[in-house]
Amino acid sequence: MKVAIASDHGGMNIRSEIKQLMDELGIEYTDLGCETADSVDYPDYAVPVAEKVVNGEADRGILICGTGIGMSIAANKVTGIRCALVHDVYSARLTREHNDSNVLAMGERVIGPGLAREIAKTWLETEFQGGRHARRIEKIEGFEKSSQ
Ligand code: RB5
Repeated sequence: MKVAIASDHGGMNIRSEIKQLMDELGIEYTDLGCETADSVDYPDYAVPVAEKVVNGEADRGILICGTGIGMSIAANKVTGIRCALVHDVYSARLTREHNDSNVLAMGERVIGPGLAREIAKTWLETEFQGGRHARRIEKIEGFEKSSQ
């Protein structure tokens, strides 16, 4: 699996924690920034990660900002992205099993690095269940096509 990861200035610590986790798990990743603690704009990081996922350069994306909200809103504007804003392990598992989420967003001002690590590990390791859930994803994709 290849992962594209990015954060704004509000999510740099959790980004480091998740990169360390992926090193431990042997997961390949591309880090798209940000590079310094200077204030930056989260869409400038969310959209490139989302584009890497939809064009196949990455299988999944992980985005961190202060709340995770801005990153998730921006990523979900890219057709084909199902970005889930997650702050608990149960939702991390269910959004993979049921929603086949391809981008994970978290907020560093909401949760600590330990929980973020558990969420990311669960999300990275959980497979989509398909079945009735696939039909629901197809409906989302149908809506995306008809609204283009
Ligand atoms: C930056 O101050 C902050 O707005 C950003 O990290 C994020 O929380 C936006 O949703």
